[in-house]
Amino acid sequence: MGSIIRALLSLLSATQMSAQIIDGKATAATLRKDLAIRTQQLIAAGSPPPGLAVILVGSDAASEIYVRNKRKACAEVGFNSRAIDLPVETTENTLLTLIAELNQDESVDGILVQLPLPDHIDAAKVISAITPEKDVDGFHPHNIGLLVQRQPGLRPCTPKGIMYLLEQTEVDFHRSHAVIVGASNIVGRPMALELLLAGVTVAVCHRFTEDLASHVARADILVVAIGKPGIVQSQWIKPGARVIDVGVNRNDDGTLLGDIEFATAKQQASWITPVPGGVGPMTIAMLLSNTLEAAGLRRKS
Ligand code: GUN
Repeated sequence: MGSIIRALLSLLSATQMSAQIIDGKATAATLRKDLAIRTQQLIAAGSPPPGLAVILVGSDAASEIYVRNKRKACAEVGFNSRAIDLPVETTENTLLTLIAELNQDESVDGILVQLPLPDHIDAAKVISAITPEKDVDGFHPHNIGLLVQRQPGLRPCTPKGIMYLLEQTEVDFHRSHAVIVGASNIVGRPMALELLLAGVTVAVCHRFTEDLASHVARADILVVAIGKPGIVQSQWIKPGARVIDVGVNRNDDGTLLGDIEFATAKQQASWITPVPGGVGPMTIAMLLSNTLEAAGLRRKS
């Protein structure tokens, strides 16, 4: 083939680039299988199954789905799943008393309080009440502090899952510039800490960021975690970027969509996560992984 034709073909493929899909659903399924085997080994060695208490206060529709999925995954890998559903009018004191009991309960290795909590409950106070050894969400100030100090203990699940997915794409972290859109305690902030720990140059954009497009355009790794579609536009994305869409939004017809328009972003990116089937299943797999880790550490001590 002549060199001119080859050059034309490569130009054509560059202009019609279509990203590879980062399959979080399949990756999480493989991880769950491994966790199930390790759980069986723990039990065969005479240990009780890892126990995870998942607390839901109120009846937020999205939270109910997330919690159901977490409990189901937990039971499937052989953990002891403790489901605690409390009415929306539950007081902060009742919740704090329950957490104090679960902190003392030998059969419980992990405690998760689904967020958001009703407005009359101080989420920061509740998270701080969980003993750090059972904080499988990795949100306790102690565990966040360890991540800040480059000595991670239990790590926040969504960023941990995203790091695992990025590693599968064989990205060169040290030569990458990451842009995170969204600065929440659950995703954006711990995501920045994880990427920093891996040697990535990181920028975090938030509601006060001016000229978001210019930041997004510099991203080799783009993580969007806003929870609203349309704020990041596909044409801003740097060609060849790895794009991680954390958003889970619902169309009028009930179908799910991310924060980024998938079909157009796919033409710009080299790798991209779909919604559903991208980050969501990885968050749950990492919750299970944290629970097994917490169980292992508690049984050793
Ligand atoms: N709400 C949305 N994501 C999460 C999560 O990872 N953990 C908890 N506890 N609540 C959430």
